[in-house]
Amino acid sequence: MTTSSKPLKILLFGKGGQVGWELQRSLSALGDVVALDSGDTTLCGDFTDLDGIAATVRAVQPDIIVNAAAHTAVDKAESEPDLCRTINALAPGVLAREAAACGAWLVHYSTDYVFNGGGEQPWSETDSTGPLSVYGSTKLEGEQAVQASGCKHLIFRTSWVYAARGGNFAKTMLRLAGERDKLSIIDDQIGAPTGADLLADVTAHAIRAARQRPELAGVYHLAAAGSTSWHGYASLVIETARNAGVAIKVAQQDIAAVTSDAFPTPAPRPKNSRLNTGKLQAAFDLTLPQWQQGVIRMLTEILEK
Ligand SMILES: NC(=O)c1ccc[n+]([C@@H]2O[C@H](COP(=O)([O-])OP(=O)(O)OC[C@H]3O[C@@H](n4cnc5c(N)ncnc54)[C@H](OP(=O)(O)O)[C@@H]3O)[C@@H](O)[C@H]2O)c1
Repeated sequence: MTTSSKPLKILLFGKGGQVGWELQRSLSALGDVVALDSGDTTLCGDFTDLDGIAATVRAVQPDIIVNAAAHTAVDKAESEPDLCRTINALAPGVLAREAAACGAWLVHYSTDYVFNGGGEQPWSETDSTGPLSVYGSTKLEGEQAVQASGCKHLIFRTSWVYAARGGNFAKTMLRLAGERDKLSIIDDQIGAPTGADLLADVTAHAIRAARQRPELAGVYHLAAAGSTSWHGYASLVIETARNAGVAIKVAQQDIAAVTSDAFPTPAPRPKNSRLNTGKLQAAFDLTLPQWQQGVIRMLTEILEK
């Protein structure tokens, strides 16, 4: 079989992060992926070097730029706002400007932390923003820079991201549940744990659709279906592990549900992290799985190791 179309050229930033790692896999089905992280030396992937990343885009001349890099240390961001702003707002702005100049699509990720966490309704894309933290404010500024650039873009706001690779909340809970006979877990922050693999798969699907239908460009909420608290999340993790024969010290009734005040942090967390994903599901003809499905799959992977 012969084909005249050239493979797509995709430039991925943040290849070593939770989402970036999974994107290396999912994007490889779309075309040739040039994947970078902050330490790459041949091409600059360091978001603190704004001229460097602009030069990278000009050198690669991609069809699609995917930005999975971010300053995600939410508490640390409070004490290094300038660095956080450079990585989360200024660098995406540079990528967007360069994308507009070379006609590339830009795929960018944002967060439910752009909202103030009030109420109990899932947030829609049209709801007013009101970040509570440096991380949230800089992520919002990054979104706005992408939108203002005029480049073709997809911005996915997500929440409570986990991956089997590296550290995560579930692994921490499993360790604590094996060591302690009592646990206290926050029960007044509500969201949907969302797998990096789901984000990466939906991203590849959405890129394919948006290239066919450029009018799909815009901001979308993307998270697993359903919702829970950190306490509900931890309980599922611990019970699944217990049922799988893992040595768990804490009894289910000794996993106490507490309010956020019990664990003060430099950056306040939104209480309501629910995201309404109706726009994304309708636009891209997708059904998002319940959050438990991905968490149990990730646990199976962890527990088999
Ligand atoms: N994690 C969550 O719960 C969550 C929730 C909502 C939204 N999001 C958003 O989802 C996206 C992906 O997040 P994630 O969970 O995959 O984050 P992650 O695992 O923390 O990965 C972040 C990546 O950013 C890179 N990075 C940090 N500083 C950099 C710099 N100066 N230059 C270049 N790269 C830099 C890191 O690479 P190095 O190690 O090489 O520095 C790492 O690969 C982000 O936009 C994030 O804001 C995440």
